Amino acid sequence: SALNITDTFQRPLRDLRISVTDRCNFRCTYCMPKEIFGDDYAFMPKSELLSFEEMTRLAKLFVAFGVKKVRLTGGEPLLRRDLPDLIRMLTAIDGLEDIGLTTNALLLKQHGQALYEAGLRRLNVSLDSLSKETFGKMNGRGIGPERILQNIEFAKSIGFQIKVNMVVQKGVNDHEVVPMAAYFKKQGIALRFIEFMDVGTDNGWSFKQVVTKKEILARLQETEKLVPVEADYLGEVAGRYRYEDTDAEVGFITSVSESFCSTCTRARLSSEGKFYTCLFATDGFDLRDMIRSGASDSELAEAVRNVWEKRIDRYSDERTEQTAKKRKKINMSYIGG
Ligand code: GTP
Ligand code: 5AD
Ligand code: SF4
Ligand code: SF4
Repeated sequence: SALNITDTFQRPLRDLRISVTDRCNFRCTYCMPKEIFGDDYAFMPKSELLSFEEMTRLAKLFVAFGVKKVRLTGGEPLLRRDLPDLIRMLTAIDGLEDIGLTTNALLLKQHGQALYEAGLRRLNVSLDSLSKETFGKMNGRGIGPERILQNIEFAKSIGFQIKVNMVVQKGVNDHEVVPMAAYFKKQGIALRFIEFMDVGTDNGWSFKQVVTKKEILARLQETEKLVPVEADYLGEVAGRYRYEDTDAEVGFITSVSESFCSTCTRARLSSEGKFYTCLFATDGFDLRDMIRSGASDSELAEAVRNVWEKRIDRYSDERTEQTAKKRKKINMSYIGG
């Protein structure tokens, strides 16, 4: 049974988000703008990335401290070779109840079946627009939505549980809120609207570009009747609503307008093995260095406990236009969404 640890605000450790690569085949303007992540951008060499054995060893230690959910992210996680092997290793961990993967789905046709067979059941797909022009611009690669939509249908047909994440940016894709909702309602897939956040230092964020949950809900309610749904568990990120006439749901991830730091139970492991206690952290604790210098499990566990017990992060509760501009943050493709 788990050895529960809590941080300075009594928040337990329940989720671990592991970034398996810092690379991505998209160049979303709000995440990896191509002006910065160009052809000569120096991504991490393979030797710097945590191996699957290292990830699994750390995941076990986190599970011993109460982690129940692991989410694999990137960058784009499907770019990491042999990912089904990692899924198999993680599904074998006792006490780990849930494994999810966040992906842009471009490579899902190639990898979906093998991932399912390895034991993965949940996918969160990022898709910001149904318009070819808008989506192509936002992903920075001119890729249209058809292939993503086909891959979502394919994954659904295999048996995956799927949610779709849409980052909403004012003047960029907010006109797509209603069409996206209509499309995924019909598909019976939960769509979650994410308020545009000031992650990293490269996306030129300002409050003016945020479309809040309140505004999005008001737009949907012009034609739909939505009823709030109780949270599934403490610290659930998305506030959910159900359409009155179907089982389909929409969700809102209100990191800007209604922050949820007080129940944040998430730890993050970057692709090179640094342990971060917040999406907006400025520094991480180097677990890879400890592993590669021969630390024992109990030494690693003590390090994890120490970091978590000192945790004071509540960035989104404290966010102002000033902190958003001044603080040097870690890019999302590196730390993992
Ligand atoms: P489920 O297990 O399906 O609930 O997944 P999830 O919502 O935890 O994961 P997902 O990767 O789909 O998260 C959606 C988005 O919510 C992330 O990409 C972030 O944009 C945002 N998000 C998730 N966790 C945090 C967090 O701790 N802080 C903030 N500010 N945003 C978060
Ligand atoms: N604001 C909000 N969400 C973001 N994501 C990436 N960058 C941002 C940002 N600046 C989302 C992606 C994906 C998830 C991993 O995080 O679109 O759904
Ligand atoms: Fe890649 Fe996801 Fe970042 Fe887009 S948001 S650049 S798909 S990691
Ligand atoms: Fe957790 Fe940091 Fe996000 Fe707040 S801003 S919810 S502390 S990751």
